[in-house]
Amino acid sequence: MTDPTQIKKGLAGVVADYTAISKVNPETNSLLYRGYPVQELAATQPFEAVAYLLWNGELPDATQLAELRAAERANRALPDDVKAAIDLVPVDAHPMDEVRTALSLYGARDLAGIGSVLDASGTPAENLDRSIRLFAVLPAIVAYGQRRRRGEDLVEPREDLDYAANFLWMTFGEEADDVVVDAFNRSMILYAEHSFNASTFTARVVTSTLSDLYSAVVAAVGALKGPLHGGANEAVLHVFDEIGSADNVAPWLDEALASKRKIMGFGHRVYKRGDSRVPTMKAALDSLVAHYDRPDVAALYDALESEFVSRKGIYPNLDYPSGPAYQLIGFDTPTFTPLFVAARVTGWTAHIMEQLSANALIRPLSAYSGPDERHIDGYVPDTAAIDIAERPEEAAG
Ligand SMILES: CC(C)(COP(=O)(O)OP(=O)(O)OC[C@H]1O[C@@H](n2cnc3c(N)ncnc32)[C@H](O)[C@@H]1OP(=O)(O)O)[C@@H](O)C(=O)NCCC(=O)NCCS
Repeated sequence: MTDPTQIKKGLAGVVADYTAISKVNPETNSLLYRGYPVQELAATQPFEAVAYLLWNGELPDATQLAELRAAERANRALPDDVKAAIDLVPVDAHPMDEVRTALSLYGARDLAGIGSVLDASGTPAENLDRSIRLFAVLPAIVAYGQRRRRGEDLVEPREDLDYAANFLWMTFGEEADDVVVDAFNRSMILYAEHSFNASTFTARVVTSTLSDLYSAVVAAVGALKGPLHGGANEAVLHVFDEIGSADNVAPWLDEALASKRKIMGFGHRVYKRGDSRVPTMKAALDSLVAHYDRPDVAALYDALESEFVSRKGIYPNLDYPSGPAYQLIGFDTPTFTPLFVAARVTGWTAHIMEQLSANALIRPLSAYSGPDERHIDGYVPDTAAIDIAERPEEAAG
């Protein structure tokens, strides 16, 4: 009988491994990427430099950044067969299903010719190359997805624009203002990495079997889709739509809390005194509110935050400011979680490479809570068969 205190439901509080990629410290409300506070990175760096940092451990010098940018630009275009695969996904399917499908085909075509699973996990150089290509192609997948749902054609990437500006160009077919590019760039950096969250841990579990990087990323996309994880930024907008305006916050909250609803965009498994990324994203949201002249958005945001915090003492997480920010930029609500994928793919791939560098198969134990051993009526055991109970070392598989 397993001691119930040994069971850590949801793995809460369990330290599963070391990581040198990021440090979440709920006590000091800080998040470090390779030692750098995320706020500093968001204020000073292009997203490409942060991707480089997550993968390589150091910020790039000018030459290294130029090389990464060249590789990123060379791999931006959506391959025809991946576009065709996206077109096969029902247009009213959730865009995360579209992203998952596109990445699955992208991986299969890249690994074509690798006949044995023994060779799939790749060398460090191959995996860095695969990571850069995924990072580069995701904006095309996400942007085309939104355009297709709007009945618009694919927009080809622009070689003269950096990552964030090109992402917005491919989505909207026009050049974005600097304030919008800056806010979007910051959001990508803030979403890039967050230690052993559910999707990253999923990627590490898949990698630990020595599967390939693409399989791990596709699995992570599935984990991120859930509303308790990546789907929350999308859910925040549904909440905003339901509430309508700031003066409806109190009655709406009365009803929502009475029916025991979780309020999306609030709460966090690790941060219990506020999410360290929120102030930076809120500042980006404020700049967008001013740029688009939408004080109504800020009023609803502030009203729900202060009402919910004063009633429950539960603070907003990053999805709370990023949802309305993405809406102001012009992204459709279902596109929000795919945007999260485009950012978090940098963290996922950094973790996949780290897992491979010191791998141990991830395989926890479970405490059995089903019926005691029982038997099929009339079944006569085959006495010639080997009784597996006599081979306990094989029974654990
Ligand atoms: C993220 C989340 C799953 C963390 O869950 P958790 O670690 O189990 O949360 P806690 O243990 O701190 O919850 C403590 C209490 O607060 C409640 N609570 C936490 N977040 C809440 C929310 N957003 N709305 C209403 N109640 C909430 C819990 O239901 C729990 O109540 P109980 O003690 O009566 O059961 C949870 O806060 C949540 O569902 N948030 C909304 C979804 C979201 O924004 N996700 C994005 C995360 S980055």
